[in-house]
Amino acid sequence: MKGLILSGGKGTRLRPITHTAAKQLVPVANKPILYYAIEAMKEAGIVEIAIIIGETGREVREAVGDGSRWGVSITYIEQEAPLGLAHAVKISEGFMQEEPFVMYLGDNLIRGGIFGFVEQFEREKPDSLILLSKVQTPEQFGVAELGEDGVIIALEEKPQHPKSDLALVGVYLFTKEIFKAVNAIAPSKRGELEITDAIQYMIDQKKQVRPHVITGWWKDTGKLSDMLEANRIMLDDIESENLGRLEGNCEIQGRVVIGRDTVLDNCTVRGPAIIGDGCRLTDAFVGPYTSIGNFARISQAEIEHSIILAGCSILDLNGRIVDSLLGKNVEVTRQNTRPRAYRLMLGDNSQISVTN
Ligand code: DAU
Repeated sequence: MKGLILSGGKGTRLRPITHTAAKQLVPVANKPILYYAIEAMKEAGIVEIAIIIGETGREVREAVGDGSRWGVSITYIEQEAPLGLAHAVKISEGFMQEEPFVMYLGDNLIRGGIFGFVEQFEREKPDSLILLSKVQTPEQFGVAELGEDGVIIALEEKPQHPKSDLALVGVYLFTKEIFKAVNAIAPSKRGELEITDAIQYMIDQKKQVRPHVITGWWKDTGKLSDMLEANRIMLDDIESENLGRLEGNCEIQGRVVIGRDTVLDNCTVRGPAIIGDGCRLTDAFVGPYTSIGNFARISQAEIEHSIILAGCSILDLNGRIVDSLLGKNVEVTRQNTRPRAYRLMLGDNSQISVTN
């Protein structure tokens, strides 16, 4: 079995972070989302993986490399534009060489991996196995309608009036039958070749498409609130490790990971939290569900329930930063010069909320 990870597309909902970075590389618990997909494949015994890349391809290649770090081999397939998930499948036909494969959307996170689904697919040998999950906003997803016998009746992409609350999860298992389908369908109203239409085509052709309703946690990480939730869930699984140094009067409560060459001086950290390598924290409070990337400088400041990317400086704040996502090398500082005012340099589509 081979693997296909989709890491093209445009991260419109996570701007401005995705103006400069691929959304699949935004870290959750200090690890790019895309790495979780590679690890899930490796754990399921899949070692030949193709990654679909688009505009942000160079950055994805740099972050992932040839896969040897995970003991897998990675091949990159360039997609000329985000023409749809089924288009991504279409251009991977040569790589798959008629083998069955798992397709994994690079912005999806599934707690517990995909091992069990691969095993079910290999045991039952359907033409496709699709994963479904109950959601509160089915209109934002591909939606499956199941009959009383649990068989799929129909699939619809982002329907205005969903026939069920069962969303298609971004992990699909296919045999080579999917290539007939992606070559037969036409682009949808939004101009994309939809994987939902391709699977519907397989159903219409009486191919065996089996649904598996999952009960574990799954997230399509499109928005800030999704990222923070994903960060919470993944931090819940970490185990304490301190590779850094504590100085002065430090207090570490609960499960906390502190990276190499990181120094904490006079700080309180309340886990679950992770602090990367080469950071310097002085007189700071780091609250639960916080991930701080490498080389951060935090002094006289408090941070909680946030994701801070590498190289940020957060200095001399009176208040606490909460529910926030800071991109790479962001500076948040206090200045005591007059006039007393907010001084901002923000990228397009930035969001700021202040209390005073
Ligand atoms: O997350 C689950 C949902 O994913 C399913 O319920 C939907 O049926 C399915 O269509 C898909 O919907 P999204 O609107 O969330 O897909 P999105 O455009 O965000 O693309 C998903 C991933 O695939 C993302 O990492 C970008 C990548 N991609 C997307 C397109 C359209 C590509 O690599 N190439 C593409 O052409």
